[in-house]
Amino acid sequence: MRLEKYLVQCGLGSRREIKEFVISGKIKVNNEIVFDEGIAIDEINDFITFNDNKLKKKTLKYYILYKKAGYVTSASDEDNPVVNDLLPNWVDKKALFPVGRLDKDTEGLLLFTNDGELNYKMTHPEKKFSKKYYAKLKKEISSDDIKKIEDGIDIGSHTCLPSKIEIIDENSVYITIFEGKYHQVKRMFKAVNNKVVYLKRVEFGNLNLNGMNLGDVREIKREDILID
Ligand code: URA
Repeated sequence: MRLEKYLVQCGLGSRREIKEFVISGKIKVNNEIVFDEGIAIDEINDFITFNDNKLKKKTLKYYILYKKAGYVTSASDEDNPVVNDLLPNWVDKKALFPVGRLDKDTEGLLLFTNDGELNYKMTHPEKKFSKKYYAKLKKEISSDDIKKIEDGIDIGSHTCLPSKIEIIDENSVYITIFEGKYHQVKRMFKAVNNKVVYLKRVEFGNLNLNGMNLGDVREIKREDILID
């Protein structure tokens, strides 16, 4: 097997990240640094390390969590419960991490995996992976403001990519964005002098919360996630 393929299967990261690890001398095969990720390795008999730690092929896992409010997307937090606390005991939590983040008060779809390559693909700005949110707003939104947001609004340090808004009623919308800046949706509506009073992520690419209730966790397969 090619070394690169093996390293992806160990969950080490994307192909690009793996190339960087190899170039910077972090990967050894049988105690020798290798500088070519294309070499053939014997996955059973070769001793392969990253930063001198032995690598092992992982079973890659994928879970959708319907996040509740009140939990922070972080590995640990002194003052608040964290999203990992919402994962039940039947989940294989080893090396699992959330893909992207949701604010403490945001509900909705959070994907967990131990697949570093997939994480890279879903969060890299160039990939423009879609995220759809249900947002309840403090005030009715005008068609002018919708156009401003859809065209790509300036939220301070960043001009957003174009987005898509679907009106539900006078103060609630679905908004689909293709990037993931800090507090992005809240800042987009703030930029037109409105305020998000409730936010829920309802879709992450082709994944959705259909059939799930708040706090539920569902295991899915890699092939359920459509991304190139
Ligand atoms: N945008 C926000 O403002 N908050 C989230 O949690 C996600 C997107």
